[in-house]
Amino acid sequence: FVVDWDPGDAEKGGYDHFMMKEMVEQPKAMMEALMGRCCDNGASFTGLKLDAEMMKHINRIQIVACGTAYHAGMVGKYYFEKFARISVETEAASEYRYKNPIVDENTLLIVISQSGETADTLAAIRLAKERGAWVLAVTNVVGSSIAREADDVIYTNAGPEIAVASTKAYVTQVGCMMLLASFLGNLNGKMKKEDAARICHGLMMTPGLIEKALDTQDVIKAFADRNYEIDDLFYMGRGVDLYTSMEGSLKLKEISYIHSEAYAAGELKHGPIALIEDGTIVVAVCTQENVFEKMLSNIKEVKARGAHVLAIVQAGHEDIASEVDEVWVIPEMDDDITAIPTIVYLQLLAYYLAVARGCDVDKPKNLAKSVTVE
Ligand code: G6P
Repeated sequence: FVVDWDPGDAEKGGYDHFMMKEMVEQPKAMMEALMGRCCDNGASFTGLKLDAEMMKHINRIQIVACGTAYHAGMVGKYYFEKFARISVETEAASEYRYKNPIVDENTLLIVISQSGETADTLAAIRLAKERGAWVLAVTNVVGSSIAREADDVIYTNAGPEIAVASTKAYVTQVGCMMLLASFLGNLNGKMKKEDAARICHGLMMTPGLIEKALDTQDVIKAFADRNYEIDDLFYMGRGVDLYTSMEGSLKLKEISYIHSEAYAAGELKHGPIALIEDGTIVVAVCTQENVFEKMLSNIKEVKARGAHVLAIVQAGHEDIASEVDEVWVIPEMDDDITAIPTIVYLQLLAYYLAVARGCDVDKPKNLAKSVTVE
């Protein structure tokens, strides 16, 4: 009696792809990322050397990363500014390192890297350290080069990520960015205690909200099966939904090879709207109440050019159905944590479109999991 098995399949834990296994692991990854850091009265990072005294000398914060981690950095910037009222520059490491950045001993450089080995990110650290900056690394891999060279480390605790397209690492990076923003807001006194508690409470809900997203796979797969022959897909959003759109668009490009763009919804009319034709799919990410009406106007603009609009809204906004072609309703949640559950819908969309097109989801052409050369 011979059992025919492939060790690679065994590691996939019964899933067709590592990417699916890792998407399913996201609730657990989030819990690990939040454990011990998400407290009733705000964020706490034991072991972090950066403290209130050091923060007094910091007059510039830069976030530097590549790929998916760069998008987590964009979300980071959004919440550092919102919670801690500190202005932040987020930049791709490959740009930062070659442009003689303004960085000195009063700079806090935060780098984000799943692998902790990306060459450009590592080079950014070396440059900033040479000029006296304090470097805080947010990484998934214990003992990685980036973890070793940074002055301070926050581990994302997502567990090993094998698929080239990053999923569980991203949600934990975003979670850590939100915690860090609230931590800094506490240190500098700019964040109200009740807001810090609200964010932690919201973050604690994210594992359950990710589960709910994963439960909607049938709807997402059906959408992908109806639309997999498309040539282009546009995403639009405002505020934090823009960064979720950018990450969703990257996931799609990486694994399905469908051309895609993510735009600030208000920028559409400054160019990309010219590309909208009859039937072009536009995914409108509308999770933010403060810009909901603005998103509705942008939806009307693209509808008037023939777009087929899929809107993603929180429960309570189901009536958007009369304005769009399809609606995915996500559970009602605090607007400040939507970046975490919402990306899961877009990851699944990219996944099922790629599968329907017969793509090798785990090993997309021309891409590597870790870019350690220049
Ligand atoms: C590669 C991977 C991406 C990743 C990026 C940055 O392009 O394919 O998934 O986001 O590198 O990697 P890092 O390990 O630094 O997060």
